[in-house]
Amino acid sequence: MSASIKILTPRLRLRPLVVSDLDMYANLLGDKAVTLHIGGPKTREEMAVKIVKDAATWAEYGYGRMVIELSDSGKSIGMCGVWKSSIEDLHFDEIGYAIFQEYWGKGFTTEAIVALSKFAHEKAGLRVLNAVVSPENNPSKKVLEKSGYHFAKYIDRLTWKNAEFWQKSV
Ligand SMILES: CC(C)(COP(=O)(O)OP(=O)(O)OC[C@H]1O[C@@H](n2cnc3c(N)ncnc32)[C@H](O)[C@@H]1OP(=O)(O)O)[C@@H](O)C(=O)NCCC(=O)NCCS
Repeated sequence: MSASIKILTPRLRLRPLVVSDLDMYANLLGDKAVTLHIGGPKTREEMAVKIVKDAATWAEYGYGRMVIELSDSGKSIGMCGVWKSSIEDLHFDEIGYAIFQEYWGKGFTTEAIVALSKFAHEKAGLRVLNAVVSPENNPSKKVLEKSGYHFAKYIDRLTWKNAEFWQKSV
């Protein structure tokens, strides 16, 4: 069912992440620069597990991880998505995003996140979206600001103190 889902923006096409995206996804989240503020490079195996689990999230909730493609060439430039997260007693719907370094600073992620947030509300019925950001991750905070999110509070993850918790009511 999720195979038919597409989010279109002026320059981008977003579609659910599938097993055949593993090379792209592993390259993206295996990159040192991309993962500088999100816990460091991940292994191909970790990414394979995420894709499989994500298919179940799509089936159960109607949202999940998506590939960001350029609409003119079809090239995959990164990922974004919404998923269930928990930090101790806090359970929430989290948005996340990452794109390859060569595409940074062109407004692509903001364009994707504005559209994804709208989709999460209109198609998946979510009322509040959340993001967890390292205080040093200025580009990410800029994306959130420009997409209508606001800083809510600081939270501590086990190995990550003073992470910023951002929210948007959609
Ligand atoms: C965060 C990330 C997705 C942003 O992608 P992007 O497509 O470059 O984002 P946008 O172009 O839409 O916006 C980035 C904004 O940050 C600004 N920016 C870039 N570097 C910056 C810096 N060091 N300090 C402050 N602002 C910065 C850009 O100028 C731009 O703002 P502007 O449009 O007002 O000029 C990208 O940097 C990335 O993939 N990072 C690695 C993964 C990551 O950290 N994900 C976030 C997890 S919370």
